[in-house]
Amino acid sequence: MNMKTEKTITGAVDPDVLTYTVGEDPILDLELAKWDCMGTAAHVTMLSEMRLPRPVVTRAEAARVRKELGRIAALSAEGGFTIREDDQDVHMAVERMLTEKLGDLGKKIHTGRSRNDQVAVDVRLHMKDAILRTEAETLELAEELRRFGAKAGKIPLVGRTHLQPAMPSTVEMWATGHAEMIADQLENLEAAYRLADLNPLGSAAGYGVPLPLDRNRTTRLLGFSRTLHNCFGASMARGECEASLLSALAQLMCVLSRLAEDMIIFSMPEFAYFRLPREYCTGSSIMPQKYNPDVLELVRGKTAQVIGWQTAALTLLHAMPGGYNRDLQDAKLLYMKGLDTVRTTLRILAKLVAGMKADADRCRSAFSPEVFATDVALRMVAGGTPWRDAYHEVRDHLERLGTEDCDVAVAAKSHEGTTGGIDHALYRARFAAAKKSVKARLNALEAKCKALLK
Ligand code: ARG
Repeated sequence: MNMKTEKTITGAVDPDVLTYTVGEDPILDLELAKWDCMGTAAHVTMLSEMRLPRPVVTRAEAARVRKELGRIAALSAEGGFTIREDDQDVHMAVERMLTEKLGDLGKKIHTGRSRNDQVAVDVRLHMKDAILRTEAETLELAEELRRFGAKAGKIPLVGRTHLQPAMPSTVEMWATGHAEMIADQLENLEAAYRLADLNPLGSAAGYGVPLPLDRNRTTRLLGFSRTLHNCFGASMARGECEASLLSALAQLMCVLSRLAEDMIIFSMPEFAYFRLPREYCTGSSIMPQKYNPDVLELVRGKTAQVIGWQTAALTLLHAMPGGYNRDLQDAKLLYMKGLDTVRTTLRILAKLVAGMKADADRCRSAFSPEVFATDVALRMVAGGTPWRDAYHEVRDHLERLGTEDCDVAVAAKSHEGTTGGIDHALYRARFAAAKKSVKARLNALEAKCKALLK
């Protein structure tokens, strides 16, 4: 048996225990460095403002700490910040660096705090930023689809139900239908954002501390919408916002996967309504003729993964006792993987859609007489026949259906949201308003960060 131990700030442990418990934190926590510095800057500022006979840190000392935190955050932005295994995580790495630079002052910053408190606030700040960026990328893809639809103009497309030819539609209707569904996923992301926008800081290990912490002060300094009132509840809420975000991400991935599936089907040589850009297709090592839609297949595949991570997050939480438990560390891994997967998927799909071409001839030649069956029955209704009689008349004599002009058919439908009634101005205004709100909140968060870390 190897009895060697490894020293850490929190005690000496067996090296295998250290590796097992640290897990992927030294890599994952790099993403939290900026937010950890911001959280600590707010905490130290608040500590320096506490009315005590002997201050924990003076205002001048807090300013020195903030300056040093600004330097560490800048280092992390340049990729020069590293977390050692004996640090265990970003929180200890930042404390070590502050202590190396500021001596005893660095040792004071953890007063009235715990790492549970730190990680909870870091994750929420990171999430707020990442959700907003995901929303911007979601809107980018929706806008790309809308543009594709506008460019395709009124190219008729056979609308399908059960994958069978159904009624006259257009490429524009297909593309903007997907665009709208994707953009509406912002509602779920916004729900996750609102949960992330609550401040847990000042809960310490989950039970508060005998110091007059001003928790609302850090809420304002960090730009949260409000404070999570109950310290125990604040610590338990860790994991819940990760799960809520993963649920929004899983649903968004499902929507993207359905788009991918349509693109795969409609670009098959048997359909060839759409042509995918060749540089986004991959070849075969044996069949020289192949241009495969691997990207789109992987969108389907990665959707399974994101659903898996959502399930993992809920499973992680469902039987967890109250208070901090180390399992929560894995919730961080799950939501970070989820975000990364969804964001790369959004970006690559936007590229594919931007390069995709609609083949008007192939789209038109797919119209068989049956596609007009409903329109024929509705013309009979216009002539006074009751709908059900018209329906049976057409159904009983499908052989009488003839070739019709698909362009005329799609132009004849003009009510809201149908082939002749797609409102691009409405989409543009909706997407622009959402983009503006995302940008304003990203700027506000950055301004809070700059104010704390200057
Ligand atoms: N890396 C840890 C996490 O993500 C930080 C909190 C550690 N707290 C503790 N009590 N061991 O959960």
